[in-house]
Amino acid sequence: MKSCSAAAPCSTANLGPGYDVFGLALDALEDKVKVSRTYPDGGGRITIKNSDQAIPSMPESNSAGLVVKKMMQDFEISDSTEIEVTKGVPSGYGVGSSAASAAAAAMAFNALYDLRIDRNRLVEYAAEGEVASAGTKHYDNVSASLLGGFVICRVASDRTQFIRLEPPEDLVLVVAVPCLEVPKKKTEVARSVLPKMVPLKDVVYNISGAATIVAGFALKDVETITRGIDDVIIESARKHLIPGYDSVKQNAISAGALAVTISGAGPSMIAFLKTNKNAKTVAAAMANGFKDTGVESRTFVCRASKGARLLT
Ligand code: HSE
Repeated sequence: MKSCSAAAPCSTANLGPGYDVFGLALDALEDKVKVSRTYPDGGGRITIKNSDQAIPSMPESNSAGLVVKKMMQDFEISDSTEIEVTKGVPSGYGVGSSAASAAAAAMAFNALYDLRIDRNRLVEYAAEGEVASAGTKHYDNVSASLLGGFVICRVASDRTQFIRLEPPEDLVLVVAVPCLEVPKKKTEVARSVLPKMVPLKDVVYNISGAATIVAGFALKDVETITRGIDDVIIESARKHLIPGYDSVKQNAISAGALAVTISGAGPSMIAFLKTNKNAKTVAAAMANGFKDTGVESRTFVCRASKGARLLT
């Protein structure tokens, strides 16, 4: 039985104003996916083994399964395939869990069949997996998880383009993951509360923040990055879904964080720091913010990740 394995890291999406456009890979936690060819010409049957029993194992509702299914269809592969997912990234908390499984699955499948798919197209395949949790394809988490670093997803009518910038070495992130029950298909729920129309002045504010973030990454300047991380469109619509949002944010800033925002669709929150001098204090302050509303949390201090990698 021939197999290939890959690991892909967790990630944060949006970074405030870059909704569905910005992703940043984080070197905190990772998923591992092993793809094996079980029977040649086995009718394209996909079976999934998952270390997290809460995650569906039907290929149509599993992010790694959807990716492999689409790749098998496109490359007319009819072998039976087994996917073994070892979850390290908690599912449903806004740290790119489904994206990590999808990114690792795309990379492992590409290697198993020596498909030599270019990285841009591999991200497109990985994004197929987001339909399992978000209901639609979006590229911010998967592109960061696969490519590593900071990624801008340039939305185009034909093919989305992924532009990767190397984050500054002194960028430190603190992620607080609240121990809350999250609804099934949480991302779909968090997307359903967003406004369909927004005032032009809010769009202008967010574009100015997003442009500042890109400039900050291009200049490798953490302070410039963090000056852009303020969003007046998405956060205000979602913050009621996060108990303790205001205290977590306020506590982190008081403890020395330069910026704080919702990580992806939440409910995790992420703080941005220059150097890790205050990181533990910021982590404790964020945990206290959740605790004030009776919610325990796990915190991680991390840096940007280099992205997915094949395992030997
Ligand atoms: N950009 C997405 C959202 C990330 O905010 O809904 C969630 O995976």
